[in-house]
Amino acid sequence: MPPASSSSVVRHRHDGNITDIRTVGSAPSDVRSVWATTFRAVRAETERRASPLGPEDQVVQSMPDASPTKWHRAHTTWFFEQFLLVPHLPGYQVFDADFAYLFNSYYVAAGPRHARPRRGLLTRPELGRVAAYRTHVDGAVEQLIAGADEAALPELLRILEIGLHHEQQHQELLLTDILHAFAQNPIAPAYDEDWRLPRPQPKSARGFVELPSGLHTIGFAGEGYSFDNEGPAHQVYLRPVRIARGLVSNAQWLDFMADGGYATPSLWLSDGWATVEAERWNAPGYWRKADGFWMQFTLAGLKPVEPDAPVSHVSFYEADAFARWAGKDLPSEAEWEVAARAGLLDEAFGVVWQWTRSAYSPYPGFRAASGALGEYNGKFMINQMVLRGSSHATPAGHARASYRNFFYPPARWQFSGVRLADYTI
Ligand SMILES: [Fe+2]
Repeated sequence: MPPASSSSVVRHRHDGNITDIRTVGSAPSDVRSVWATTFRAVRAETERRASPLGPEDQVVQSMPDASPTKWHRAHTTWFFEQFLLVPHLPGYQVFDADFAYLFNSYYVAAGPRHARPRRGLLTRPELGRVAAYRTHVDGAVEQLIAGADEAALPELLRILEIGLHHEQQHQELLLTDILHAFAQNPIAPAYDEDWRLPRPQPKSARGFVELPSGLHTIGFAGEGYSFDNEGPAHQVYLRPVRIARGLVSNAQWLDFMADGGYATPSLWLSDGWATVEAERWNAPGYWRKADGFWMQFTLAGLKPVEPDAPVSHVSFYEADAFARWAGKDLPSEAEWEVAARAGLLDEAFGVVWQWTRSAYSPYPGFRAASGALGEYNGKFMINQMVLRGSSHATPAGHARASYRNFFYPPARWQFSGVRLADYTI
């Protein structure tokens, strides 16, 4: 997204599943209109992703970690209202005084909130009222962008930009959450029958490539947007390692399964094995066996498992066990980032997120910002693992080499896959 000091073009592509936001230089006088255009494009993408879903679809919460579509649409709107409009638009009237309680997610400093596991019980407000909420806030944000004092603009645009990237994160969650909801339905409904699944990997994606050992800099530095958890940039030392050009395929995963991968405790971390037993895992998430063949429930409905496509919907525990079975390791996030910056990875972005063996922890010198927005990333830096790259459901332009995604080790409802590392060199 454009920095406050320049402007951008916005390309809204309807041929895929993405909104593509790229920055280019243009006249400073265009800054406000460019940001308004960017804002409209991101907001429209959320609505586009929700548009195949009816009222019943949009209210369902299939597990505590997954939120209803209606909630995503309202919560992303509340974010702009809470952090941008209420403090910065003089005379702004909140749309509904109850909504801050209903649609605050986890911002303790922003006040009390509805319990996360109970979001699916919110049959009211109805969809139409949530749509009206979005329209109300959209108009006010555009009014703010157009009318703000020049001196106040950089700070307003800074918050606006966070709100846009926040909404893009929820755009991906909207899809992973509805996939989980639809997966509970015995008739296996399709979100979009034309949904494009990750394709088989190119032959060039095979094999391993050596990383230059020694000191490297990782973390975000320079122009453009980043989340606070991507910095400070800092040096890391890498020992010699080879990293896979490509992603672990379904065929490789089938070999792991056929070799007793899910039935061999010695391959698993203790917590992982406990999860395998408790959840009775014997295959990746959304895999189902029908007439002797493995099928995979997808956003396009039930499809045969494509052997040459990258495996998806595996947890950190599974990724870790697979690597051990293969006699390899998962890369650290630093190794992943160095390799991605060097252009050594095929399908680093836009296919599946890739688990790393790195715990999600603060970079040296990281300090969360003060106030409620400081709760965005920093307070989650415990007990989760870092994923790198992006998935085919990630809005285009959202991720980058320094981007740090994070989930709990058993989570597998995201589009999460595996890239291996090899230290036997
Ligand atoms: Fe959020």
